[in-house]
Amino acid sequence: MFDFVCGMELEGETEFRVASAGRDYFFCSTHCRDEFAADVETFLKTEPIIALEGVHKTYELGSGGAVPVLRGLSMRVYPGDLVALVGPSGSGKSTAMNIIGTLDTPTSGRVRVLGKDISGLSETALSDLRSKDIGFVFQQFNLIPSLTAIENVMLPRMIRGQAGPETKKRASELLASVGLAARSGHRPMQMSGGEQQRVAIARAFMNDPPIILADEPTGNLDSSTSGKIIDLLVDLWQKHRKTIIIVTHDPHVASHAMRVLSFEDGRLMRNHGLAEKSIWSRRGHDKAGV
Ligand SMILES: Nc1ncnc2c1ncn2[C@@H]1O[C@H](COP(=O)(O)OP(=O)(O)O)[C@@H](O)[C@H]1O
Ligand SMILES: [Mg+2]
Ligand SMILES: [Zn+2]
Repeated sequence: MFDFVCGMELEGETEFRVASAGRDYFFCSTHCRDEFAADVETFLKTEPIIALEGVHKTYELGSGGAVPVLRGLSMRVYPGDLVALVGPSGSGKSTAMNIIGTLDTPTSGRVRVLGKDISGLSETALSDLRSKDIGFVFQQFNLIPSLTAIENVMLPRMIRGQAGPETKKRASELLASVGLAARSGHRPMQMSGGEQQRVAIARAFMNDPPIILADEPTGNLDSSTSGKIIDLLVDLWQKHRKTIIIVTHDPHVASHAMRVLSFEDGRLMRNHGLAEKSIWSRRGHDKAGV
């Protein structure tokens, strides 16, 4: 049995229950229960944009040993959600993000992204999905040192052979939207960590992907810069209605996310809930614009 909201596998009936149309739905917490109860119809008719069921990932070591990292991870994310992932180091958060982003493959289990079972996709289809539908933001920024800010932002289109004036125009607009209009000709070395991460965020939005995955985007930044980066992501999320998953230890994120899902030993353990309900209300949520 799975929690309809966060997707966590439940061991059986829980005390968090909603009865609807003669069926009982069970949840991990009051948070998921209340979120479901507030909009049952939307939940029942919306397919998760990301769905993992019973995902295992075990790394085989050269020495013959094996490290189990994901141990039956089940999780759902709906279109337009902003979800935070928290959990101790080594609990499998990055591994899960890499699998969702198709940068890594599970040892077993089911992964659906945008309605497609990714185990059934060819390498070409996967790389297409990765470049069109998913934007990545990493802790280390991962900018190309020899390229200027605007060229780094243009990169996801340049790779697809689209480096024309349209691309350049969009890249400038994106740089302006992250507050870096004046830095367009600067190389990564000439920018602060916060500025580099803004460039990386603009790059993640370049192909207008429905999904943004940010793995500890503020892990290398001081706390005041971190706050600004999180605010920027939340602001872009509200404007563009992307689906965003952020791995972070920054409590600032928790106050904006719809769900704060905690990992432990390669599984989802709990939804810690949310602080500011006002910004994530599903009412007025523009599904068509996702
Ligand atoms: N390529 C790999 N080979 C072997 N072990 C790995 C590999 N990648 C990650 N691990 C191990 O998997 C565990 C979980 O890693 P990770 O997903 O990065 O956790 P988190 O992001 O939550 O800190 C860690 O113990 C790490 O050492
Ligand atoms: Mg990690
Ligand atoms: Zn839940």
